[in-house]
Amino acid sequence: MYEKIQATAQWLKEKITSKPETAIILGTGLGRLADEIEVTDRIPYSEIPNMPVSTVEGHSGCLLVGKLGGKDILAMQGRFHYYEGYSMKEVTFPVRVMYELGIKTLFVSNAGGGTNPDFNIGDLMIITDHINHFPENPLRGKNFPTGPRFPDMSEVYDKELIRLADSIAKEKNIKVQHGVYLGTQGPTFETPAEYKMFRLLGADSVGMSTVPEAIVAHHCGIKLFGMSIITDIGVEGKIVEISHEEVQKAANAVQPLMAEIMREMIRRS
Ligand code: HPA
Repeated sequence: MYEKIQATAQWLKEKITSKPETAIILGTGLGRLADEIEVTDRIPYSEIPNMPVSTVEGHSGCLLVGKLGGKDILAMQGRFHYYEGYSMKEVTFPVRVMYELGIKTLFVSNAGGGTNPDFNIGDLMIITDHINHFPENPLRGKNFPTGPRFPDMSEVYDKELIRLADSIAKEKNIKVQHGVYLGTQGPTFETPAEYKMFRLLGADSVGMSTVPEAIVAHHCGIKLFGMSIITDIGVEGKIVEISHEEVQKAANAVQPLMAEIMREMIRRS
């Protein structure tokens, strides 16, 4: 796997003329940020050696290279989910490649079900910590030389970036929540009993992504910032039927606000 990562990074290094230190995984809620990137290169995943191909509706698969907020950036338009059948190593492969390309800061977003009773649909939650509820840890197996065998996880989400996001949100009058994101395998949404269990475990938002990438980014020493859009509510008495389309719709409604915060963070960081 390590050789594959290096071969992919080498292929990309020959293709990319800039030297970006910032990357974005354009998950749910950040799709429109892609339109603001001054794209110099759009590389379909299918052309990138060893890259898995994204299948899920609403996530097209392209690596974008360009400028945002005056900075050289890389953006993944489409990510790989465990529920699609990829292994944890495949899900986190792009983050490993990013590290090899010299990425120092990573921005991620996702959609989540709110388990915190104070949350509402359309809230933006800055991820302050996570719970890995996937059946596997992406670092399982031979340790990669990017970090220790038993990595510290006391600050996966960079506190300075969180402070920066808070001050930008305040300036722009955008309400943000803070909370713990619990990543679970999906593809099922939760039963009421499962939402309740996740709340008892300490989750504020529950979703099917981000945690694997966060663990690997941290193992690589990449500074991380993440936000979750609360697209549905998993609180007893407030639970209603949901679908992928409704999640997308709720996310689309607030994505300009999330995009504004992230763009400004990139400009200032
Ligand atoms: N559960 C899991 N994943 C999700 C949810 C949810 O309620 N909402 C958006 N993604």
